[in-house]
Amino acid sequence: MCGIVGYIGPRDCGPLLLDGLRRLEYRGYDSAGIALIDQGKINVRRAEGKLRNLEAAFYREPMPGKVGIGHTRWATHGRPCEENAHPHRAGSVVVVHNGIIENHLALKKELQSRGRVFESDTDTEIIAHLIDEALAAPQGGGHPLHAALRMALARLEGAYAIVALSEEHPDVIVAARAHSPLVVGLADGEQFAASDVPAVMEHTRNFVFLDDGDTAVLYADRVDFFDGEGAAAVREPKRINWDPVSAEKQGYKHFMLKEIHEQPARIADTLRGRIDLENGNVELGEVDLPEGFIRDQLKHVQVVACGTSYHSGLVGRYLMESLARVHTSVDLASEFRYASPVVDENTLCIAISQSGETADTLAALREARRNGARVVAICNVMESTIARESDFVIYTHAGPEIGVASTKAFTTQLTALFLLAVWVGRQRGTIDGARGQALLTEARHIPSVIEGLVSNDEIYLQIAKDFSHARSFLFLGRGINYPIALEGALKLKEISYIHAEGYASGEMKHGPIALIDDDFPIVVVAPRSKTYEKTFSNLEEVKARGGRVIAVATEGDTDIERHADVVLRVPHVSEELQPLVTVIPLQLLSYYIADFKGTDVDQPRNLAKSVTVE
Ligand code: AGP
Repeated sequence: MCGIVGYIGPRDCGPLLLDGLRRLEYRGYDSAGIALIDQGKINVRRAEGKLRNLEAAFYREPMPGKVGIGHTRWATHGRPCEENAHPHRAGSVVVVHNGIIENHLALKKELQSRGRVFESDTDTEIIAHLIDEALAAPQGGGHPLHAALRMALARLEGAYAIVALSEEHPDVIVAARAHSPLVVGLADGEQFAASDVPAVMEHTRNFVFLDDGDTAVLYADRVDFFDGEGAAAVREPKRINWDPVSAEKQGYKHFMLKEIHEQPARIADTLRGRIDLENGNVELGEVDLPEGFIRDQLKHVQVVACGTSYHSGLVGRYLMESLARVHTSVDLASEFRYASPVVDENTLCIAISQSGETADTLAALREARRNGARVVAICNVMESTIARESDFVIYTHAGPEIGVASTKAFTTQLTALFLLAVWVGRQRGTIDGARGQALLTEARHIPSVIEGLVSNDEIYLQIAKDFSHARSFLFLGRGINYPIALEGALKLKEISYIHAEGYASGEMKHGPIALIDDDFPIVVVAPRSKTYEKTFSNLEEVKARGGRVIAVATEGDTDIERHADVVLRVPHVSEELQPLVTVIPLQLLSYYIADFKGTDVDQPRNLAKSVTVE
């Protein structure tokens, strides 16, 4: 989730671009840069680390220019450093980009074969070269830089929000959008492009939200829009009246709600570039284990994590054992590090951490390494400590998660664990190509399934009214949905301050059933599955004792209505993918109850986003 800003107009725009980047800080960054055209020449300034480093560099030696672009980088390809910071330049062209170009390696080889020299290891730099090459080629109608941009876009596969300029054509900046957000701000005599409204909303309230496939040519006095086919298009501006703070939340009341709604796109980003559907395989080039290790040497997978990441690890165990048939243990990192773990060179340790800085998880992975294990991190922050100390890293592409209660990080962890289990299963022959194709085809539809769930959340307002006075909740789940019950309980207690406990459904009769009365709501995760009948009988036991039940159930399941006071519906998906879907109602349930209670949803009391102490 990088931040992009562009400007063309009568003002010297360096300070305006820097201010816009600062307003996009919440999108995360590890480096930043700006490029301006002055007297027909492009000047670029980039800096690693915090935005203040770029500001200091700029104000030490200000750069004039009335046409410019800026970028804050949240690294996905290429470590955070000045060389990899945007804008990237090739010949007369500079580019800033947010997204993932899936075929960047093939394009890079092709461009290098034509003598193109690269300075960075980012996927973005290839875009600058493609545009620069196209500028020299014979073109169709319209503005030459726009024609060159479209020729370059025709070669790209993946997600992008691109803004580019050229010193050969200082009268415009050009923009393009596919699967990464980009807005165009319209004003009198000056125009703006940005990843998000907050960057430039002090200069204009009139915005066009580009559609996938759209391109735009921004002149100082107008903007021309084009659709996915390259035809001129009319794009009506919307007037945005948000205040700056709510604009960072894109109009959502809390970052947590925004991040719940972001999950379809972030899961799609995490899948992107990692699925080889033709062969029913997963591509995890970042996990460069010795040839044969997975097939012949691997005997044990050991997961270490904390909190929500531990819950995703529990789901990972079901996946790794059912799909790849590898014995898998999951331990709380704080426990693992003081135990006497049976870990050796035949063990693959998976350290799961959104922040990449959790002290217990870091200590646990060090313990695993000391015992000879190879470590794969599943992490959301590039070059974080856990990422750096692991042998390999599978990055989730959740983007910065601002809400302390983890939501999109959790579902992108589940996505990464699913991919890893299929990848291991295909190497060990426990999954054949056809099964791999079926699993991966279904996985690609999960974002649209979740989109349907988050788009109708009104039901939760009533649940919040009816249940928020309860003093305690019990969450029940079975099989691969047992960790989802644990996660649902954690979500509720950490943001609403209502006590909640997650339990394996089959364990209810071994104690918790004594707690049931009409003021002790039971949330049961009960989608159609091989254990549905067992869970259904748990519901009967609860109702027989006067308990109130909220059930997460499969669409079309009418039987469940006999034993549930509230039914939260989810579409049917294969069991391996169910957690990605069944957790959504529990995230929304906890959010709306907490919001109804008026707690500080984004920064709950006593909690920190990253627990870097032991
Ligand atoms: C999740 O909602 C919590 N905020 C917390 O349990 C979190 O998952 C845990 O602290 C682990 O953090 P990490 O993923 O950054 O390692």
